[in-house]
Amino acid sequence: MENTYLTKKDVIQINEDTFIVTFNEKFKFDEGQFIMIQTPSLTRKPFILGTWKSNIAVSVQIKGKGTKYIVFEEKKFKAHFPLGNKFIPPAGNGIVIASPTCITLANLLHEKYSCNVLIGSKSKINFELPFESVVGNEDFSKKIKTLKPYDWYLVSGSKQMEEFVLSNIESKNVFVSLEEYMGCGIGACKSCAVFTKDGVKHVCTDGPIFRRDIL
Ligand code: FES
Repeated sequence: MENTYLTKKDVIQINEDTFIVTFNEKFKFDEGQFIMIQTPSLTRKPFILGTWKSNIAVSVQIKGKGTKYIVFEEKKFKAHFPLGNKFIPPAGNGIVIASPTCITLANLLHEKYSCNVLIGSKSKINFELPFESVVGNEDFSKKIKTLKPYDWYLVSGSKQMEEFVLSNIESKNVFVSLEEYMGCGIGACKSCAVFTKDGVKHVCTDGPIFRRDIL
């Protein structure tokens, strides 16, 4: 685990409020792991790691001062990574259903497992994605309800998106990437605790990706 500085290479706007941030540095991480990036208030924010155009990348939705600092202001970040567990999908054809905030993870899984990707965005996407996308709740809802069956599904987006997708998919191989508030990322602060059928789990050390059937 590294606690070091990373430098920003590019910022690519995906939709009205979400951006891909790529890094100059290369480092080892597994699919599903995340990074904590320090902001000026000294709080650290978690982002799931992925790739974009052969670079290590995260996707950042602007929500406040910390995310604005990461996207627009600073070029060099103090960061702690990689954290969390590897996601290994079951065999067979899978699909990642994600919001733009998880697009770099979706891209990485697509590169590694040739799985399908469906991006559901609430606002217009600024450029042509290398996989399918739908804009707006209505088109997203139609798409999910008519989706062909897959051997596995990973859902990674807002709570609202997750709930909608999960209520419309019947499969034993459904996985969800949880986005709880995280204070430390290493199991010390207990702020990311979730109640599951297997007892209390911590998103940072037990996840961030969980099987739907334990939630
Ligand atoms: S973020 Fe601190 S215990 Fe999980």
